[in-house]
Amino acid sequence: MSVHIAEDTRKVTTHRLTEMKARGEKISMLTAYDYTMAGIVDQAGMDVILVGDSASNVMAGNVTTLPITLDHMIYHGTSVMKAVKRALVVVDLPFGTYQGDSKEALVSAIRVMKETGADCIKLEGGAEVSESIARILSAGIPVMGHLGLTPQSINKFGTYSVRAKEEKEAQQLIDDAHLLEKLGCFALVLEKIPAALATRVSSELTIPVIGIGAGAGVDGQVLVMHDMLGLNKGFSPKFLRRYADLHTAMTDALQAYISDVKTQDFPNQNEQY
Ligand code: KIV
Repeated sequence: MSVHIAEDTRKVTTHRLTEMKARGEKISMLTAYDYTMAGIVDQAGMDVILVGDSASNVMAGNVTTLPITLDHMIYHGTSVMKAVKRALVVVDLPFGTYQGDSKEALVSAIRVMKETGADCIKLEGGAEVSESIARILSAGIPVMGHLGLTPQSINKFGTYSVRAKEEKEAQQLIDDAHLLEKLGCFALVLEKIPAALATRVSSELTIPVIGIGAGAGVDGQVLVMHDMLGLNKGFSPKFLRRYADLHTAMTDALQAYISDVKTQDFPNQNEQY
């Protein structure tokens, strides 16, 4: 396995992501939700750390991302920020904190920026949230967009299957992507859409397009940490590559510890005062 480690130790900024796209360097992005894991991800050389509202699933055990609150996201964002030195840190605005009222959206984004110290926010949707995006941007807060499968709308979609397979939805996504760029979003996540569509959007936009289940023709990739490290045994979508089997590794370690305690092998002479 060839390992590419970031040699540039400068802090990653939104501007540097645009430069990376311009020179064809792919952007690596992963979620993190706590201090310890964020430190490992940052030191590994990840370009972008997303404090995703997927924390609702993988940290809090909810079935959807809908229940997580702004206070929860701020808690996760604050923990991550204490560990990160290099990566750009993006915090998701959770469901219900930006959709209805652009003034409320701005208040939510300001809280995230002030209380966590993160670099920027991400939110889901296109034209329907354009007022909120414009107002947040007007306060100087960088916004990352998110189109395609937008999990906060799961109750509207009814399924987590691939989005924008039909012409009408694909055209809407293309229009929304151009709108987000025009409004001033610095980057865009495309989730679970056909690779050809994602490639087209990426080639038409100058801002970086980061894919999850959107193929190889985009400017970077994002995955949920628990999925790619193999902590989630039961989640195996086609787009997911597992880079470790930490579920098995942890279970083996935990069972070895239990056994050592039961057999009085632990602690030994050298492990006591
Ligand atoms: O919350 C999250 O983890 C996300 C990624 C799936 C892009 O939004």
